[in-house]
Amino acid sequence: MESYDFDKVIPRKNTDCAKWDAASFLFGSEEVIPMWVADMDFPIARPITEALRKRTEHEIYGYSLPEPASTLAAVTERMKKNYNWEVKPEWIVFTPGVVPALYSIIRSLTAPGDSVIHQDPVYYPFWSAIEDNGCQVLNNPLQLKGGKYRIDFDHLKTLFRPRVRMTPLAQRVRAMILCNPHNPVGRVWTKEELVRMGEIIIGNGAIMISDEIHCELLFKGQEHIPFAKLSEEFAQNSITCIAPSKTFNLAGLEASVLIIPNRSLRSRFSAIRKGFLPSVNIFGLVAMEAAFRNGDVWLDQLLVYLQGNLDFLVDYFQQKIPRIKVIKPEGTYLVWLDCRDLGMNAAELETFMNSEAKVGLDHGIAFGPGGEGFERINIACPRSILEQALQRIEKAVSRL
Ligand SMILES: Cc1ncc(COP(=O)(O)O)c(C=O)c1O
Repeated sequence: MESYDFDKVIPRKNTDCAKWDAASFLFGSEEVIPMWVADMDFPIARPITEALRKRTEHEIYGYSLPEPASTLAAVTERMKKNYNWEVKPEWIVFTPGVVPALYSIIRSLTAPGDSVIHQDPVYYPFWSAIEDNGCQVLNNPLQLKGGKYRIDFDHLKTLFRPRVRMTPLAQRVRAMILCNPHNPVGRVWTKEELVRMGEIIIGNGAIMISDEIHCELLFKGQEHIPFAKLSEEFAQNSITCIAPSKTFNLAGLEASVLIIPNRSLRSRFSAIRKGFLPSVNIFGLVAMEAAFRNGDVWLDQLLVYLQGNLDFLVDYFQQKIPRIKVIKPEGTYLVWLDCRDLGMNAAELETFMNSEAKVGLDHGIAFGPGGEGFERINIACPRSILEQALQRIEKAVSRL
């Protein structure tokens, strides 16, 4: 069996990579160790590189079919294998990224002034995808209880009640964007939680946009349940977003997949995307198929390595930096750090991490008001880099 060495440090500086090459601009110093944007400092699975090499050797890169049958089959077979979910090829729509897809989905479901729900702290483009489409964000803040985030179902229900200070348009709640697994708090929502959310959202006539891009990045003992698999009603009133980009570290190839079982939602989406949102380019398609078909040897080893990094980090904070509490993720390689005991406001915490610790983290406040006092660290890097970053945070905290 092929084995992969995730300890190996591969320099990424001067490769025009956002994570490393934008770090000095973003964090104010060349010295900062970047642990922010969600990609990994690991080389990809060899079968993907092989497939790309083979394609480049053809040396003709003309227009490709937007939905090649073999790529569609790779997606349906993976859904069947991973979740026993029977996805029909005609439900599948390829898009060059989940974020541009979210923008188009919201445009296809709403008119300016309508409302869309999400649950903060949450991946910041959710806010902009709603607001940039002229819609209103209805926030259902997640509740942190006993070190774990939970959904406030009672509050979620109230978002569908008429509200006094709102225009009649904003009362029209068209959709919710669900993040499962949830970036940044790391929850993998249980069947019971998904059913309760679905009953409220769909029961009130709204559509569930289920962003499941992190669905294959799970820690020990976790199971991902696709929202749309839970019932025919949920399938018909939802759009699922997945991609090989997070799981297989292919973000720069911009390939993602929407699963839209409802024909009318599909045609609304294709009308909106026309002329603006293309399908996926040939290299993205080739990489996606190779990843879904032949990436599992690499993925299994990656998940073991990430679990090791998580255990290392949890232990490090407990032993050496107890003022910062780790919110233990169930999925994703992004870890949410509760820094509230440091007693800093958002601006002070940002300056502290950038300039004192010299570690480039995503600052919690960017994920919404519920993120104030928190930081997000990306642990998908060789352990030696993670250790250096933690040592820097430890040293900076000890000087306080
Ligand atoms: C929840 C979530 N959705 C979407 C994305 C980005 O997707 P894409 O690069 O396909 O636009 C990310 C990246 O971190 C993410 O965490």
